Amino acid sequence: MLRNFSLCKFEILITIALFRNKIKNTMCNKRNRLLVFLFCTLLLAHKAVLATPPDEGMWLPILLKELNEEDMKKRGFRLSAEDIYSVNKSSMKDAIGRFGGGCTSAIISNEGLLLTNHHCAHSYIQYLSSVQNDYLKNGFWARTKSEELPCPGLTVTFIVSMEDVTKKVLENTDNITDELQKQAKINQNIAQIEKEASKGTHYKARISPFYYGAEYYMFITEVFTDVRLVGAPPEKIGQFGGDTDNWVWPRHGADFAIFRIYAGADNKPAPYSQTNVPYKPKYVFPISLQGVQKGDFTMVMGFPGRTFEYLPSQDVEMNVKMTNPAIIRIREERLKIIDLAMRLSDTVRIKYSAKYAGISNGYKKTTGQLNGLVRLEAVKRKQELEAQFQTWANTQGEPYKSILPGFANVYATLSKLNLASVYINEAIFGIEILNYATNFIELEEIAKKENSTDHDFEEAKRKIASSVHAHFKDYEPRVDRKVMTALLQIYYENTTKDAQPTIFTEIEKKYKNDFAEFSKYVFSKSFMTNENDVNKFLEKTNKKNIQKLLDDPAYQVAKSMWNKYYREIKPEYDKLSAEARRLNKIYIEGLRKMLPEKKFYPDANSTLRVTFGIISDYEPRDGVRYEWFTTLDGIIEKSKSLNPDYEVPEKLKELHAKKDYGRYGKNGVLYTCFIGTNHTTGGNSGSPALNRDGHLVGINFDRNWEGTMSDIMYDPAKTRNIMVDIRYVLFIIDKYAGAGYLLNEMKIIE
Ligand code: ARG
Ligand code: GLU
Repeated sequence: MLRNFSLCKFEILITIALFRNKIKNTMCNKRNRLLVFLFCTLLLAHKAVLATPPDEGMWLPILLKELNEEDMKKRGFRLSAEDIYSVNKSSMKDAIGRFGGGCTSAIISNEGLLLTNHHCAHSYIQYLSSVQNDYLKNGFWARTKSEELPCPGLTVTFIVSMEDVTKKVLENTDNITDELQKQAKINQNIAQIEKEASKGTHYKARISPFYYGAEYYMFITEVFTDVRLVGAPPEKIGQFGGDTDNWVWPRHGADFAIFRIYAGADNKPAPYSQTNVPYKPKYVFPISLQGVQKGDFTMVMGFPGRTFEYLPSQDVEMNVKMTNPAIIRIREERLKIIDLAMRLSDTVRIKYSAKYAGISNGYKKTTGQLNGLVRLEAVKRKQELEAQFQTWANTQGEPYKSILPGFANVYATLSKLNLASVYINEAIFGIEILNYATNFIELEEIAKKENSTDHDFEEAKRKIASSVHAHFKDYEPRVDRKVMTALLQIYYENTTKDAQPTIFTEIEKKYKNDFAEFSKYVFSKSFMTNENDVNKFLEKTNKKNIQKLLDDPAYQVAKSMWNKYYREIKPEYDKLSAEARRLNKIYIEGLRKMLPEKKFYPDANSTLRVTFGIISDYEPRDGVRYEWFTTLDGIIEKSKSLNPDYEVPEKLKELHAKKDYGRYGKNGVLYTCFIGTNHTTGGNSGSPALNRDGHLVGINFDRNWEGTMSDIMYDPAKTRNIMVDIRYVLFIIDKYAGAGYLLNEMKIIE
């Protein structure tokens, strides 16, 4: 909209200019002819912009031909939908792998080289690191295949095929009126279809609901389990800018890491073995060194996690007024306490760096989303659409007519429960000791169950014992005690009495609501503050003797919260959410009928999607325009500040000083990152960014802060995905790390 508007303004100016000139000069002069020509060109360009498609949408690969191919070509795409997803030949989708549980990766060599983000590889790199071999700090480069490092537990999943199975899934469910029974039958059908589909193969089958269960698609997948780390830059390069720059444009991170997939001799997935061989992929992305320009077509393929584009206004309002502010407030408090402790002690800094990054990542995204929703007047826009819907629905009758009143009804109660639920999850379970204490509830349950055995109890103990060290390795009770004081207070002040567990009555009676005193008591008496005491407890306790657990104050608080949440709040919350989902399903069905010309896309649900758009700058706020690209100069510029997030290895500075960019630079400039209008979300990290010829030009790794509301409402003027320029990636591999030999495997287009 903004784009069209500014063009209109421009046209008016040209018209005025022409008119003025007409008065001054004769129409035949050269300058005027040029202006007329310009005017016409602009008009045409304007038309073209009007006709160009919006970039919102996360599209299903098998529907591209029908829905998007034409729009993609208008944007400049030079291949066809069949090149992206084909059942008959190898296509791009064969080279897109889901990386672990939450990221995306792309195949870039005939020998199974895989490209993803550094932040997606972070936990594996950390796992493989030691003080002697600190790969996070120094980076890692395997000089030969035998130096590549296995990553236990890491999987890469490819989509073999996908299929609409709606009819089969909904078979014999039409006349079941009870929602829960209906869902049970659907689940039964799904299990049956999945079982049959993968029978006798090494593939897995998974069926996912789309449009709140109006449609179902089945995905046949191949899961590789021998995946090895090949290379990663130092963290200071891979995640340059750290938390300061996270969710922020302009950005300069070389957020990449390289892995290799190994397979058995038959090229099929196999558990790790020294005899495994590099996987021979069906498709390999060629890499282009040509770079991108403003306005160029780009496409991002990957596994976006979750979006909520079709919520009713009440839900958006709940986010704006309650959920987001609560999350922000609680996390701000936690971050403040942890940050101070990290600054005062190196031990605490190391222990809490990953935790801090996680809390901060969600915090920052939530603030961006809230700002964006408010700025867009998202609630009002939803209400306007709803008014239109109701008028249409009144002409249609049921089931559409009563959907919106139904939402109003559900959300009246749901929003109250939502507040309690957000506070319990963010505040109470944000207190580490309470969260940890919930692991012990199983012991009490087994001890109290009549027909349970000693064996059951020992099994549950073993489960706890296996993670004691991992928990305490990164735990600091001093910090957690301060968090407890602050968060209990916040919980108390922001929830109503009926949302407060019984323990609060006691805190009021015995401690006069002095939460610091109460926390002091919990931490001085609980055995859950250190590894030794927990191990001792596990040694001594048995099914008949759990008194020590029942007497533990941390356990008592946790149990009281747990009961409130799981016994009272959650069952009711789940029931209402199920009703909201049922309404949502019919609501979207109605919207699709009401707007037959509009192209709809299903919310992200971690299934393979294609999003496309153009390279584009943006205006974060009035008077400020952000370029669509960044360069190595910007890294050097940032590195001159005192912020430790902007420290950068000396060698990179040297390469910059010498302008030693090789074929990766252009006229003395090394491009680092760029942005586009592609509609992406969490899970798209590591997705390849492709140009109009399907060549890899970058890797997606983040979104701009002003655009994070796109999970709920996309804004073409402000939503931008952030990609690292592949030329910067190759420069780091070749010039910085001296691992240019890896490039010999890649198909590079100069
Ligand atoms: N914002 C990125 C995404 O949501 C995560 C980036 C991780 N880096 C960091 N400094 N926390 O996953
Ligand atoms: N960093 C996100 C990820 O790990 C991508 C950013 C986004 O939410 O768009 O998937």
